[in-house]
Amino acid sequence: MKNTVVTFKNAKNMNEKLTMLTAYDYSTAKLMDDAGINGILVGDSLGMVCLGYDDTLSVTMEDIIHHTKAVARGVKNSLVVADMPFMSYQTSVYDAVVNAGRLIKEGKANAVKLEGGLEVCDKIEAIVKASIPVMGHIGLTPQSVNAIGGFKVQGKNEEAARKLINDAIAVEKAGAFSIVLEGVPSKLADIITDKVSIPTIGIGAGARCDGQILVYQDMLGMFDDFTPKFVKKYECLGDKMKEAFKNYIDEVKDGSFPSEEHGFKIDDDIIEKLY
Ligand code: KIV
Ligand code: NA
Repeated sequence: MKNTVVTFKNAKNMNEKLTMLTAYDYSTAKLMDDAGINGILVGDSLGMVCLGYDDTLSVTMEDIIHHTKAVARGVKNSLVVADMPFMSYQTSVYDAVVNAGRLIKEGKANAVKLEGGLEVCDKIEAIVKASIPVMGHIGLTPQSVNAIGGFKVQGKNEEAARKLINDAIAVEKAGAFSIVLEGVPSKLADIITDKVSIPTIGIGAGARCDGQILVYQDMLGMFDDFTPKFVKKYECLGDKMKEAFKNYIDEVKDGSFPSEEHGFKIDDDIIEKLY
């Protein structure tokens, strides 16, 4: 069954955990969809894990649209959420609505996600008024890396913790259907999860969130530029991929690939005439 924003809201009421992963291409999205994931985020983590930037700031609307199209083509049942890139919504309410619209119209996403609390609520409200579902994202918000001085856990002192609680409540009031809590102490995430009626999707925010999300290259062990504490590696695919690449190189060099079974046939009498 197709996951919708209604599925997400109902899951919280029924105490059913929501599962999300990021994806950036057709074949990976298809595998996740087949596996039964509730939602796929075309995250601006794209910039780091696919494009090799040090942060997410350089990611453009065109980048996200390009990859959202690919993901949407691979998906039957998952909810496709597209990240709004840095400076696609911060500049004005108008920009926020126009760019959210592009992610739906051109990218074929089902919803958009944007970072921030109280300070972005006017944008969330306007996008929701345009009938585009919005997922919020508070805590460690990578687009603010320069403002918060690195990728650090947020909400560790009382003032910051209170601010995060108020941000979550404001994001819900603005009309978001769900909210990502990233890099937040687990017990603070518990409080936020209890205080809002929309599902919280945690990443580095403990087990009591209503759902979880991970970057797929992180959880498959395919990306080791750095590994945040909150990542669990369900596989070491990076090592397996390297091994397969090496085997291929060896077999091509020593002539054992391709073997006859991988080639195409032609009648011998034709070949004789050609010599
Ligand atoms: O861009 C991304 O992958 C994200 C998730 C980590 C929530 O925003
Ligand atoms: Na993101």
